[in-house]
Amino acid sequence: MRQLTLFEHKIDNREYITQNFSAGGLCLEEARLALEKKYTSLLEVTEKFNRRSVSYQLSKKNPLHSWFKYKEGFSADLVNILLDEMKIPAGDTIMDPFTGSGTTALVCQMRGINLIGCDIMPFAGVAINAKSNVLRYDLAELKTLIEEFSSLEMPETYSKRTPYVTITYSAYPEFNERFIQFVTDWIKASNYSDELKNLFTLCVLNSLERCSYTAKDGQYLRWDSRSAKVIKANIEREKLGRKLLPAHQCRDIIENFQVAVAEELNHVLADIKFVRSNASENFSGGVDFTEGSALFKLPKLKDNTLDGVITSPPYCNRYDYTRIYALELVYMGCNEVDIKNLRQALLSCTVESKSKISVLMKYYDRINASDRFAYILGKVNSNAAFREILTALEQRKNCGDLNNNGVLRMVEGYFTELAFVYAELYRICKRGAKIAVVNDNVRYGGEIIPVDYLSTSFAEQFGFKPVKIYCLRQQKGNSSQQMKKFGREALRKSITLWQK
Ligand SMILES: C[S@@+](CC[C@H](N)C(=O)[O-])C[C@H]1O[C@@H](n2cnc3c(N)ncnc32)[C@H](O)[C@@H]1O
Repeated sequence: MRQLTLFEHKIDNREYITQNFSAGGLCLEEARLALEKKYTSLLEVTEKFNRRSVSYQLSKKNPLHSWFKYKEGFSADLVNILLDEMKIPAGDTIMDPFTGSGTTALVCQMRGINLIGCDIMPFAGVAINAKSNVLRYDLAELKTLIEEFSSLEMPETYSKRTPYVTITYSAYPEFNERFIQFVTDWIKASNYSDELKNLFTLCVLNSLERCSYTAKDGQYLRWDSRSAKVIKANIEREKLGRKLLPAHQCRDIIENFQVAVAEELNHVLADIKFVRSNASENFSGGVDFTEGSALFKLPKLKDNTLDGVITSPPYCNRYDYTRIYALELVYMGCNEVDIKNLRQALLSCTVESKSKISVLMKYYDRINASDRFAYILGKVNSNAAFREILTALEQRKNCGDLNNNGVLRMVEGYFTELAFVYAELYRICKRGAKIAVVNDNVRYGGEIIPVDYLSTSFAEQFGFKPVKIYCLRQQKGNSSQQMKKFGREALRKSITLWQK
């Protein structure tokens, strides 16, 4: 299909400009309107990117990028377009502080660009290592592993079960529950190389959901009515005369774990062969990935070292990665406490997030950067639009318009932490470096938060020059609750471009 270029289709910007930020005119909106006025000349509604390219959709059939189904990921196409537009040559160094499944990392590696990345989720490292080793696997060893794995037979008497935490209790049918543990013991005791064991772990991670009674569904992990958890809950509900949970099925067949993993292994084997026969000589970029929080990784990086940034932080949309990816986290060895801690370490994007300010202050103190901490926080507190949004949400909370009061703390934490990320990226970038950030605007309690413009205003406060704000032609709707109470307001999905 022919790619449309930007200039072929100039779209009328007007329907993408927000006129009313506060439903019913309840709260002040001057500061947000001022941002709208200031940045609208940079707004470019585009068909260069679309809903599919800013999501995982396009990666589903893409060799290598399909190795880990990360619904929160963006596509290789998006990264390629941005790298071209940013004119990043081989040999340069790019950062993605929210690396996720490693889309930016892989595309950079294929183009000979070096990538520094970090992500808080333990499975991110497994995915990135597995993919970035694509040219290094010993194919004969991989074939042997597939054969041995496919013919494994679990003894009838094997009784160990894969561990669970409260939110994953009874996630698998009994056979899968035992087989997952059997296979975990088997691969640990085997003599396969570490690279191959890591690739195997990725294939297991990619299979867990379809072998379970759960399904990732936006914000939630949906449960199948055939699971012991739902059956038990319904017995209790019946006793109490409450409405039963619906007879919902995540999928017709809960797959056999051995069959699913074997399929994943064969899929990666085919991809490895394909990538090897098509890899360009540029496939040489280095990937330097650290597991951990960007909030603590960035302050330690040296000044003026990056040539660019392509990233997408978690959106300010209440998605709790630790719940959505609970099966994968438990498989990676996380217990209840680890998951709770991980939830708090996420950039504040859930209603349970608590403020990280005192932790950050202590951290900057420890690395002898308390002046920097004070400078960044000072800028955050002086941002008029941010202050206006927090006051408006407080007002909405007081009149009962927020369906969860944790939203206010989440929004405050989210943008404060993001501002720290932007400030540090400014320091770490070389002069001339370009930054691309993918994010969605949001609306809570009838108040629109222009994430794209607010982020741009923080970036500008730290010294970045705003270059362009791409907005997808297709905007985002609102939750049914918001629509019912406050009417419909389309929200921008944007890619903001800044330059040092
Ligand atoms: C929208 S996803 C990025 C997906 C990525 N672009 C891809 O293609 O796979 C946001 C990522 O931020 C990570 N994250 C959340 N809080 C973080 C933090 N404090 N530091 C680093 N990563 C974090 C999440 O684990 C998630 O993988």
